[in-house]
Amino acid sequence: MKRTHTCGQLRAAHIDKTVTLCGWVQNYRDHGGIIFLDLRDRDGITQLTFDPDLCGKPAHEAASRARSEWVLQVSGTVKSRGDRKNPNLDTGEIEVFAQEITVLNKAETPPFEIDAHAQVGEEVRLKYRFIDLRRPQMQKNLITRHRAVKLVRDYFDAHRFLEIETPILCKSTPGGARNYLVPSRVHPGSFYALAESPQLFKQLLMVGGYDRYMQVARCFRDEDLRVDRQPEFTQIDIEMSFIDMDDIMAIGEGMVSKLWKELLGVELPMPSRRMTWTEAMLTYGSDKPDLRFALPIVDLTDWAPSSGFTVFQNAVAAGGVVRALNAKKAFETLSRRTLDQLTEFVKGHGAKGLAWIKVQNGEWQGPAAKNITEAARAELAKRLDVGDGDVLFFGADTVKTVCAALGALRVELGVNKLGLAKPGDWQFLWVHSAPLFEWSDEAKAFVAVHHPFTAPYDEDVDRISTDRANARSKSYDMVLNGIEIGGGSIRIHDSPTQGKVFAALGISEEDAQQKFGFLLHALSFGAPPHGGMAFGLDRLMMLMAGAESIREIVAFPKTQKARDEMVDAPNAVTERQLKELHIVTSAAAKA
Ligand code: AMO
Ligand code: AMP
Repeated sequence: MKRTHTCGQLRAAHIDKTVTLCGWVQNYRDHGGIIFLDLRDRDGITQLTFDPDLCGKPAHEAASRARSEWVLQVSGTVKSRGDRKNPNLDTGEIEVFAQEITVLNKAETPPFEIDAHAQVGEEVRLKYRFIDLRRPQMQKNLITRHRAVKLVRDYFDAHRFLEIETPILCKSTPGGARNYLVPSRVHPGSFYALAESPQLFKQLLMVGGYDRYMQVARCFRDEDLRVDRQPEFTQIDIEMSFIDMDDIMAIGEGMVSKLWKELLGVELPMPSRRMTWTEAMLTYGSDKPDLRFALPIVDLTDWAPSSGFTVFQNAVAAGGVVRALNAKKAFETLSRRTLDQLTEFVKGHGAKGLAWIKVQNGEWQGPAAKNITEAARAELAKRLDVGDGDVLFFGADTVKTVCAALGALRVELGVNKLGLAKPGDWQFLWVHSAPLFEWSDEAKAFVAVHHPFTAPYDEDVDRISTDRANARSKSYDMVLNGIEIGGGSIRIHDSPTQGKVFAALGISEEDAQQKFGFLLHALSFGAPPHGGMAFGLDRLMMLMAGAESIREIVAFPKTQKARDEMVDAPNAVTERQLKELHIVTSAAAKA
């Protein structure tokens, strides 16, 4: 070993011991002949002192040449700092009086300081990720992630789960996320798909009798990226046989309780709140409500025709809805300019406008106020619990548009404009029983809300053919502070029901056989009732670390443009490689 201790380890108990440390130069100060170097590794920082009278001239000179991020090996004696203690450092009681110094490696001037407070653009940080990873915050995040994964594996092991790996090179299946494709060299013109999740394989494991499965699984999805999305991410994936919805929820709650307790020292009140999908959409305009604040949405569709306001009346006449929310006592906070910004904000979510009313000294102001009749106003005051200083916001459109607009507005108000979400408030919620299908204007067909293997409620099986829009699924998502951190369902375990669902999704029998024949086949060979879920590990870690972006808790993430700037991927490959894979690029085809 080149060292006896790490840079975060030495305390008063080590005084007078001879030690050897290795690490990076964080800081350099020359105080009239005595040189102080701060040496850093992932464990912490130790102050090294080079006094020429004690360490001799060669070592002192070597120390004077050391620069930021050089890698050193230093031996010396641990001394008390006396009354010069640094309370901000774990090693602040001591310093090491150096005797020997070896330069293990020099470093070019780094593109940014490794100081915890250094504010650097993300592009530069990602290009020099190997340096960025030296930052204490990054190290803390990745160490916490390591501990979380270990806790998760131990938790599931204690509950009889087996970790079993499933293929990453899979088969492209329709319906889910867009797949990354991998050309086959040995089968010209054929492609593997990178697994978007282990979904089908974990179901096959249930058929195979492995009644409790878990996996820390890499998943790949070619989607547009956001702050909580990466093209490759990690799921804590589970599946169980002979269980109901409640059993999976309890297992999931146990896991997050353990993580919060062990890593944050927080005792979560469990079981967590539950809400049907329908209630979530109606009251919060979202299938992942942020419950750190109330701001409920109130339906006014039956009130709207007598409101006197044509915008509302027309929306209802066209088969739409009118809904509203009351930002209590927000009059002072929401300036006219902010209200204009909010109007633009909801337009970005598909709304045609944002009618609002401000109530001050009993007077109702704003574009909607003058149109609303006296009688309608009294009724509205009752329904929205209107008081002085309140600001009311209205959405009038199709159900879908009003949910999207008011749901987003509610979060924008609660989190950004009114600051109602308090740090350290963990609002867990299960949103369950989503519809099995939803109409997609884009696909002009019904699509699965979860995935096509999700079981219907027993009493809703007939609705799959007779009343598609109202068939409920045995599904559940775990939501934390407005972010979906996990989701799953009870699965269909018989091939006739699975066939019905495929048919409802417009997948022909022939297509179903071709795409999912192996699953239908397996279900006909004694598949047990089963279900499961997957947590997004990256999202969990992002929330636990209080990070702004998922990229803060991934060692080597992709940028917003799905690129790795450090290794320069994706990149062009040689003609020879393409030929081997039987691939002709459109550029080559044109030439
Ligand atoms: P789902 O698609 O909901 O379910 O994924 C499960 C969880 O994974 C996380 N997640 C992501 N995290 C980062 N980047 C992404 N691009 C990304 N996509 C999803 C979310 C999500 O809740 N097989 C089913 C699970 C099941 O039914 O058992 C599945 O994959 O936190
Ligand atoms: P207008 O009658 O178009 O001038 O709109 C009057 C007010 O109603 C303005 O504040 C608009 O932003 C708002 N508004 C218009 N359409 C809608 C709608 N579909 N939902 C909610 N508010 C709307």
